[in-house]
Amino acid sequence: MSDTRPPASRFGSNSGQSFTRRDGIAKVTGTATFAADNHPDGLLYAVYVPATIARGRVSHLDVAAAKAHPGVAEVITPANRPMLDGDPESKGFMFAFRFEALQDNTVRYANQPIALVLGETLEAATEGARLLNPQYEALPARVGLNGDTPYKVEVGSFGRPGQTVYGDVAAGHAAAVQSVDLTYETPEQYHNAMETHAVVAEWQGDHVTLDMPNQAIVMSRGAYGYYFGIPPENVLIRSPYLGGGFGSKAIPNGPTVLAILAARMTGRPVKLMLRRDQMFGPVGHRGATRQRLRLGIDAGAKMTVLDHESLATTSTFDDFVESAANASQGLYAAGALRSAQYGVRVDAGTPGPMRAPGEASGSAALECAIDEMAEKAGLDPLEFRLRNYAETEPGTGLPYSSKALRECYLRGAERFGWSKRPMQPGQMRDEAGMLVGWGMGTALFHAPMFAAKARAVLRPDGTGLVETAAADMGQGAWTALAQIAADSLGLPLDQVEFRSGSSDLPDGGVAGGSGHTATAGGALHAAGSDAVRRLADIATADPASPLFGAGNAGVTARDGRFFVIDDDSRSESYADIIARAGGTEVVGTGSAARTPEDAGHHAMYSHGAVFAEVKVDPELYQMRVTRLVGAFAAGRIINPKLAESQLMGGMIWGISFALHEEARFDKRTGRIMNADFAGYHIPVNADVSGLEVITIHEDDAHVNALGIKGVGEIGVVGTVGAIGNAIRHATGHRIRRFPIRIEDLLHAALG
Ligand code: MOS
Repeated sequence: MSDTRPPASRFGSNSGQSFTRRDGIAKVTGTATFAADNHPDGLLYAVYVPATIARGRVSHLDVAAAKAHPGVAEVITPANRPMLDGDPESKGFMFAFRFEALQDNTVRYANQPIALVLGETLEAATEGARLLNPQYEALPARVGLNGDTPYKVEVGSFGRPGQTVYGDVAAGHAAAVQSVDLTYETPEQYHNAMETHAVVAEWQGDHVTLDMPNQAIVMSRGAYGYYFGIPPENVLIRSPYLGGGFGSKAIPNGPTVLAILAARMTGRPVKLMLRRDQMFGPVGHRGATRQRLRLGIDAGAKMTVLDHESLATTSTFDDFVESAANASQGLYAAGALRSAQYGVRVDAGTPGPMRAPGEASGSAALECAIDEMAEKAGLDPLEFRLRNYAETEPGTGLPYSSKALRECYLRGAERFGWSKRPMQPGQMRDEAGMLVGWGMGTALFHAPMFAAKARAVLRPDGTGLVETAAADMGQGAWTALAQIAADSLGLPLDQVEFRSGSSDLPDGGVAGGSGHTATAGGALHAAGSDAVRRLADIATADPASPLFGAGNAGVTARDGRFFVIDDDSRSESYADIIARAGGTEVVGTGSAARTPEDAGHHAMYSHGAVFAEVKVDPELYQMRVTRLVGAFAAGRIINPKLAESQLMGGMIWGISFALHEEARFDKRTGRIMNADFAGYHIPVNADVSGLEVITIHEDDAHVNALGIKGVGEIGVVGTVGAIGNAIRHATGHRIRRFPIRIEDLLHAALG
């Protein structure tokens, strides 16, 4: 009876519409419950004590003084900290990072937790933490890219190879008629989501409930189960709202594990929310990079070689290295390519994935280097990129599953007015006398699929319910995913209840890697289609139904009804079918993942082109980004408003990367000097103007069943280089260190 073809059309009327995010009103009216909004009875407040040295050991803590405070309930230090079942120094599961959970007195970086104080109030815990008055034996801290001896990275972040070569690199260098050899630097950046890391942990026997913002809800169950020696099912993670994630909220960290441990130790619920300054250390960051790019071209300005080396900071105790050189793979058709990663161990917390890990830093350098090469060749930067356009994936020769990059270039350029750009720098001024410059950059980001499951129910009243433990960090996942689910069920969006954000639901996979919509959406689509197929089987086998005999593949689903294909007069509602069949809900399940076979035949990427205008004061060198046009091709866009909003968010991060954001280490102490929003600059509304996003539709039959690629990270990728190039075009000065600062331009101008 069952045809495997889903009777519901793949794309109903919900997908493609700009629905407003479903959680928007709850968020702006303050009714959304974030993790730290939970106050279970008997709650203890936890405050962690951050190390004020970057390397050495804690020699003394005045535990007696802290415990004497009337509001302090407990003080946890390495001396009394109960054992964890899973060793925080182990790599006990996929994506495990080593972290500090008071296993000893060693200090490996500034802001590392060295004690946890529990108080009846937040104030008491804070005061108790102060009373500990730590004493240290400090060693000289190693910070920055020159902090220690570099080493070669064999296995890069996410298991990618540290070194990649194709073609004959030496021959490529030798064949070049013109070449550049450039060194760029990018700084350490820290994830600074509006909501800092938070957890409210409550144990009932050997079960624990964790209210926490989480980007990998079901995977994290296993991780916390590992550390606490309980099965994953005993861990309930509730993560209904996240105030941003950026990669930092997918991985367990020391403070969170300590808070959970404290709850078990005291037998009371415990809340920990990091202070803003505590975000700078134990919860990941983006390492600094120094990148050397050597490019050569032939007489036709085609690249004979693209040679990209990157050195990045990592910690002394784990191995995540920002894979910046990866940005040079997959984009330009160079005759030979070498991308090589090096690491340098410093006394800082371990870096981790941070929005567009690798590509953000790597493309900042690559896109500027491409511009420098184009300038040397005497070519317009867009013309140079088109001459080096890759028709198949460089190195592998694989066809792209889809690639509308050429359209991105042309549409973006047209919208921006690129054809009016003078070749020489320093030629444009506005009416106020400001120097005006135009620059561009290409964006590339892989289009991955992870694994997810979902469940879909058609209820007796004909409405739908779908479930998957997806994470909405603010990107709008719950809205776009609900649109996909509604289409798969043949229902309007408001007839579908969407349950998510809790670890007792089917595994929605990781909200990261720009793969969440494709992955969780794929699972929802499969589950909804399964439920619809089951209901269609019931109806078409029932002689009492007007659909009788049409067969599963002979009907189509929309607006809560089945219609016989090509005969709209024969139709029946879901509710009527279910009522006649005994009134029992119909349940479907589904999953999504990319098979190795799917993955092997095509190169899968999102693409984009970003065009930037900057204005620079010719005397003070104050810089402003005044226009930013990004054209992106990312397969099928489920919700244009939310996708454009995400792309804009990425482009704003690009402004931040290019001009604002940087953690500054004190070389004497290893401490970060600007661990707050006064000193760690990120763009505010006044820094952002003239932002435009164009999305270019791609029909992609290979990337996944729904043709979806990601938009979560690519926005930051081309933007940084575009701004750097625009500043060069405005001023004639090429700054090879991000963020570009006023003093860099002043130094360049003064020679
Ligand atoms: Mo991310 S850095 O894939 O959340």
